[in-house]
Amino acid sequence: MVQRVTGRTKLVGLLGWPTEHSVSPAMQNAAIDAMGLDWCYVPLPVPPEGISQAVSALRALGLVGANVTVPHKQAVLPLVDELSEEARVVGAVNTIILRDGRLFGHNTDVAGFLRALREAGMAASGRAVVLGAGGAARAVVCALRQTASEILILNRTVERAKSLVDEMGEGQVCRVLGATLEAGSLQSALDAACLLVNATSVGMWPYVDSSPWPKDVAYPSEVPLFDLVYNPQETALMRMAREAGARAESGLGMLVHQGAESLRLWSGREPEVCVMRTACLEALEGDG
Ligand code: ATR
Repeated sequence: MVQRVTGRTKLVGLLGWPTEHSVSPAMQNAAIDAMGLDWCYVPLPVPPEGISQAVSALRALGLVGANVTVPHKQAVLPLVDELSEEARVVGAVNTIILRDGRLFGHNTDVAGFLRALREAGMAASGRAVVLGAGGAARAVVCALRQTASEILILNRTVERAKSLVDEMGEGQVCRVLGATLEAGSLQSALDAACLLVNATSVGMWPYVDSSPWPKDVAYPSEVPLFDLVYNPQETALMRMAREAGARAESGLGMLVHQGAESLRLWSGREPEVCVMRTACLEALEGDG
């Protein structure tokens, strides 16, 4: 944790509501300490009606930058001076960087997902299947477009999958298709798939026994699973995949890498990813 705050200490904030259960302060402060920076990463809980003033305050107070989490990721889009391509395409800002008094909004979930995928030794060059069409799925689809030849988005509410396809598929070399998340469509989507990503919120603590997987579909042993859920570190779906002989990775790597990418942008330096991972695991154990 942060050893001391001096008159020169600079602040990085976390805009969210609530912020109590976030592991980002533990993860970022561990990395900040390891880098020897006189910085402190602090939670800035802000209710939805206060977000516009809070973003202006980042500038007034001269913060280094901030992370943005639920429920403000979309609300921040029109409040910054400039947006990165990723933030614009995903439609959400998770990182704000202050440069010469200007606010730059970015989304590090895209790079975080790709790094975590690579680190897990999983590639998505052919067909990738994504379960879910919410905020997390948007970042995943935006990332997969860079490497996959085809993305199939399956969602409980098919209209949401279709509208994501309309937005993400346009003008792409990569084919993007949408369908309902049910046994028949999943079974045919899995045919020749090289990766499955769970981007639904199903299986997250405290509902650890739930799974988005339809009954009567066997998990295919040749399709690696990347589950965005990181708490618990083994979801019911991951367990099912592993029992079938498939490789399965949790969302911890993505959590760590999106955080590392934010810190890289704020500091211009290379963070110690293993320090961040250890701090994250400790914070999750302390919370769970
Ligand atoms: P996030 O930002 O974490 O993606 P979200 O935007 O609320 O959160 O999206 C949650 C995703 O999980 C959605 O794809 C949602 O499906 P719907 O669009 O049909 O709501 C999916 N999801 C949530 N609960 C689910 C459940 N019980 N079964 C299947 N999918 C579920």
